[in-house]
Amino acid sequence: MAYSLLLRNCGQLLTLAGGPPDRPLTGAALSDWRILENAFVACAGPTIVAVGLMAELDETQVTAATTVVDAAGQVVMPGLVECHTHLVFAGNRAPEFQRKLQGESYLDILASGGGILSTVRATRAAPEAGLLDNALRHLHDFRRYGITTLEAKSGYGLDRETELRLVRVAREAGRRQPVRVVVTFLGAHVVPPEYRGRPADYLDFLAADVLPELRGEADFVDIFCEEGAFSVEDSRRYLEQARALGFGLKIHAEQLHDLGGCAMAAALGAVSVDHCDYLNPADAARVAATGRTVAVLLPLVPLFLRQEKYAPGRQLIDQGVPVAVSTDFNPGSCPGKNLWLALSMACLKMGLTPKEAIAAVTLNAAWALSLAAEIGSVEVGKRADLLVLDVRDYQEIPYWLGENPVRDVVIGGRVCE
Ligand code: NIG
Ligand code: FE
Repeated sequence: MAYSLLLRNCGQLLTLAGGPPDRPLTGAALSDWRILENAFVACAGPTIVAVGLMAELDETQVTAATTVVDAAGQVVMPGLVECHTHLVFAGNRAPEFQRKLQGESYLDILASGGGILSTVRATRAAPEAGLLDNALRHLHDFRRYGITTLEAKSGYGLDRETELRLVRVAREAGRRQPVRVVVTFLGAHVVPPEYRGRPADYLDFLAADVLPELRGEADFVDIFCEEGAFSVEDSRRYLEQARALGFGLKIHAEQLHDLGGCAMAAALGAVSVDHCDYLNPADAARVAATGRTVAVLLPLVPLFLRQEKYAPGRQLIDQGVPVAVSTDFNPGSCPGKNLWLALSMACLKMGLTPKEAIAAVTLNAAWALSLAAEIGSVEVGKRADLLVLDVRDYQEIPYWLGENPVRDVVIGGRVCE
């Protein structure tokens, strides 16, 4: 089959291939994946059709119509999968940064009507076109960092109309530019002022009046299980209702306290449990036992919230929990889109090795979106989402702190501008 795109002379091709096909990478498999030296990747249309060493390249498939990218000895890898963002919101919380520096905590600011609720006020008041412009600007930035698939949560509307608007905006943003957008409904972010003191009533309203509208529009349903947000019991009931409607499940849990939300959601079959800073070893073992639920680690969040406690990444891996890493991009706890910095921080503060951290932002992040059959590794049959980096050795990836190593981004077999 004639190649439409060929990446040649890849110094190190990080394939992420070689692990089990039916579950996310855990334990030793997180770093056992194959690196090919002096290799090529060939694509036909949006799909990878051949991967191998330069010596094995079938030159007869390279025609005048083939776009040839010379990687010139650089590292080539799968596109980054950003599996947890709050992409669609209005305004920013720069004034709260000062309050935080003066010692106010995240939950104190929320309890005073600020935090998430201040972004809810700004987002409810924003016109749909403005929300879309913002989302597109952020997606453009993400793409420059090499993100080729991104999960986008709603959650700053907290009423039917605004939440549906946020889901619409996320989907439209996905259609208008090349980065694939996966939509998660996080209407259960916090209790809105209209339901103050009545969290269970709010969740009943979402389950009865909003979730049924979202079939086919959102892939996953998420909830913030935390003091000041939703209890484990309320979260369980809501997630069960979402599951019955056919949604995949996610949860924000063990971010600031050890309440047991991760183990609860894993038992319900959640694809991911996110944050996990306070996840205890017994509950981590329960997550590991599913063999399926991915712990999404968000190391830029404790950094930005001035917290010393980071998720116990090393221990989770050693216990057999599959881990992914994401920014958690949002206006409150991580106004940053640099997933490479998150990857470095996962090594520095959570004890991941460079190979584990690379798997955590590619193949395991794809598992956290139930997309591992299509993306996350460089293998024949997968979508041609690829990066050429400006480094010669994968060990440099976490090392150049806060840099963007991306030289070229390929999405669906096309080289982005
Ligand atoms: O994942 N913790 C809950 N939700 C977001 C933060 C949202 C915000 O502060 O605006 C998070 O950290
Ligand atoms: Fe989040």
